[in-house]
Amino acid sequence: MAEPWSDSLRRPLPDGIVPEEVVVRTEGRWVMIMTAMLAVMMAVIVVTGITGALQPASNVEVIDPQTLHLAGEFVESNLGTAIEPDGSATVRLIAEQYDFVPPCVVVPAQTPVKFRLTSADVVHGFLLPDTNINTMVVPGFVAEVNTSFAKPGDYEMPCHEFCGLGHHAMWTRVSVVPSDQFAAQGPLERTRCAKQ
Ligand code: CUA
Repeated sequence: MAEPWSDSLRRPLPDGIVPEEVVVRTEGRWVMIMTAMLAVMMAVIVVTGITGALQPASNVEVIDPQTLHLAGEFVESNLGTAIEPDGSATVRLIAEQYDFVPPCVVVPAQTPVKFRLTSADVVHGFLLPDTNINTMVVPGFVAEVNTSFAKPGDYEMPCHEFCGLGHHAMWTRVSVVPSDQFAAQGPLERTRCAKQ
């Protein structure tokens, strides 16, 4: 003869035991909550990626690190800040053990700024705190990041990729000045921060 409690859903439960249908319903709700949390986190990544102008680390542009100083875009006379015909600024920097060249750059505020960097030796990092700029600088590749600075100010720029014994001392400075003040500066002041 069948026991009356052979169907577990109908079996009378001792005190403190949660019925199976309650467990199933509760687990179903938690699965929905977890799915919603995952969806929110994915949405945050996508929305901040688009609105915060985060960009992939590399535009996969190759360059020969052994001839940087001889010819092409990264010769010494071409480093620092240049103003393009459309009014935007392009800053070119070389990272090498254990300096950035030039050691300081001046850029205009409220202007689109494109940083182009490459390394002469090992992997370095380029990070501007409180901006969207955070990239590795890999020898053989040109790292490119776009930003603009709303307000004048000085940004300390540490190399944030361990690159050897002098890594901790590898810094550069980006000095953001009002655009009219920038226009009044000569090329040397723009690249070497001579007035500091
Ligand atoms: Cu360059 Cu760390």
